[in-house]
Amino acid sequence: MSYVDAIAQRFGDGGPTAEGATDNEFICHVLGRRTVRRYSTTMPEESLLDLLVAAALSASAKSDFQQASILRVSDPAKRSAIGALFPAMPWIGTSPVFFVFLGDARRLQRIGELRGKPVRNGTLEGFFNASIDAALALQTMILCAESAGLGVCPISVIRNEIDKVAAILALPDLVFPVAGLCLGYPAGEGYISLRLPRRATTHHDAYDDSALSDAIDDYDRRRDARHSIPREQQRSVAEFGEAAFYGWSEDKARQAAKAEGAAFPPYLRAHGFTFD
Ligand SMILES: Cc1cc2nc3c(=O)[nH]c(=O)nc-3n(C[C@H](O)[C@H](O)[C@H](O)COP(=O)(O)O)c2cc1C
Repeated sequence: MSYVDAIAQRFGDGGPTAEGATDNEFICHVLGRRTVRRYSTTMPEESLLDLLVAAALSASAKSDFQQASILRVSDPAKRSAIGALFPAMPWIGTSPVFFVFLGDARRLQRIGELRGKPVRNGTLEGFFNASIDAALALQTMILCAESAGLGVCPISVIRNEIDKVAAILALPDLVFPVAGLCLGYPAGEGYISLRLPRRATTHHDAYDDSALSDAIDDYDRRRDARHSIPREQQRSVAEFGEAAFYGWSEDKARQAAKAEGAAFPPYLRAHGFTFD
């Protein structure tokens, strides 16, 4: 597929087409990527998994502090214990491979102790840097795995049961999951998820969201034409009623109106983070 077609599939927003840019297979692949939640039973080779871990840990790292850690969960008892916490997402317990990407502010703290220096890494800066390093490692593995023909699904819902997940994985203070990653060979095609129009997500020389409302209306309609959300999947109908037109923005506004992740801040505060 050409860039022009791949960009049209991803955005369909009439924005820049990248026509004339030199062909690049990897970028074309990124434009057409999609999350996969159903996998064949074929187990990826261990050598491929080793390669993906090495690639993930080749991601950029803030200040070269290298605050990402990757934990592979292969013990069947631990896999099913974690999976059982999230029955609405069966792929968590059943994907052939499951990694957890950890923000690891502990290692730098320990290095300070080893070198006799006053490192205090439970700060907001320490948390933020470790989170970003883990997220970059996660996304690097995602793109590399997909380019090797695998399908993946990041799993941040594990943070909703952070106390239980941390106990299963024996996570120490200052180490926290950013997300899990289900991985395996895709059992189906999946679909490319239309992204917001670039006039809503890109800015030139100064931030300007004055056209947001129109851009979102347009996006809702185009996304609905591709994949409409069935009436029975409308969220919080008791609270917000049944919408005649239920687009992406209505769905996301309803989703975001219910705060998620309440257990995460107290967990972090009880496990070494002061956020000062
Ligand atoms: C940090 C992060 C956490 C995610 N957590 C979950 C999750 O817990 N469960 C899930 O099924 N999908 C999860 N996803 C997948 C997103 O729902 C998916 O990326 C999004 O719908 C866009 O689809 P696409 O990746 O196919 O373009 C997560 C994605 C990211 C980046």
